[in-house]
Amino acid sequence: MTSPQRRGTSPQRRILVTGGAGYIGSTTSLLLLDSGYDVVVVDNLSRGRRENVDPARLRVVDMLDTEQLACVMKEKPCDAVIHFGAYIAVGESMKIPEVYFRNNLAGSLSLLAAMLETGIRNIVFSSTAAVYGMPACVPIVETEPYAPLSVYGESKVMVEKLLDWFDQIHGMRSICLRYFNACGADPQGRTGEDHDPETHLIPLLFRAIQTGKPMTIFGDDYDTPDGTCIRDYIHVTDLAQAHIAAVESLFAGGPSRRFNVGTGQGFSVKEVLQTVEEVTGKKVPYTMGPRRDGDAPLLVADSTRLREDLGWRPEYSDLHTIVKTAWAWANR
Ligand code: UFG
Repeated sequence: MTSPQRRGTSPQRRILVTGGAGYIGSTTSLLLLDSGYDVVVVDNLSRGRRENVDPARLRVVDMLDTEQLACVMKEKPCDAVIHFGAYIAVGESMKIPEVYFRNNLAGSLSLLAAMLETGIRNIVFSSTAAVYGMPACVPIVETEPYAPLSVYGESKVMVEKLLDWFDQIHGMRSICLRYFNACGADPQGRTGEDHDPETHLIPLLFRAIQTGKPMTIFGDDYDTPDGTCIRDYIHVTDLAQAHIAAVESLFAGGPSRRFNVGTGQGFSVKEVLQTVEEVTGKKVPYTMGPRRDGDAPLLVADSTRLREDLGWRPEYSDLHTIVKTAWAWANR
């Protein structure tokens, strides 16, 4: 890793993190601070949580407010932006597309305008495996064509395309990280997953244990070994480290790139449930339900590019560690 100091000068590098009060944004902010960076968080707190951010670092600003964003960027010069601020619920995006395009697409455009105005030319963007839809080839490589099945996925594709044009025209370099299934919690217990409403598998398995109310498995008639969907689960700390590697590659003068972030190993819903039972020592009450619209049977990343080009290695993403850290967080 390169040093977080500006080369030849004394001040620390300063990173502006949008959506830094959310799950992945707050975890990444902590790791940036641990690595010696200065961090300022922009979040409108519509989904993020105030308690996830040091109050001295938080600026409550909506991303659509370009003027206010530019003011934050001028407070102290920022060297890069890591852009998490977005709505993330696939199902919700299919009910209120206007809200998703406004927040995720128009919000990003507003952010890019503020960056242009204040001279920031490095950005790491929080993208998603949802840009691929139901890919023909698994493990998925970054050259797989865009084929989003949801407004959420489409909004991320659109921002990736905006970033291509901004590089070509304005020389703004970007790294898009396409996450697979983010999960787990900070091993020191400082941050973890807590969405409202919660739609993700591992927190819902815990909730079923804690409340005794059965969770539903969405389909067991897929063409997979046990009939349930297979996903690539990536620990949030490993995901956060990928952001640090990405921002450092931009600081080192590297080009715009797109990377998958996953482990390359898939687990079925039933395998995750079984691991949750092993780690917690408790039975998970569940019922078998129909398939959920838009679920691909198998999504596993080929992350060779990220490993080879940025030297990234997952350290916490074995399923037991994921579940153990998430369970500790759920019982905090
Ligand atoms: N699942 C259930 N029951 C539940 C919730 C989930 O069986 O109550 C299953 C889903 O069908 C899926 C797996 O558990 O097979 C994982 O589901 P999640 O909702 O936790 O995650 P997704 O794979 O649907 O979504 C994740 C991210 C999205 C992103 C997508 C990209 O959360 O933001 O990966 O593929 F778009």
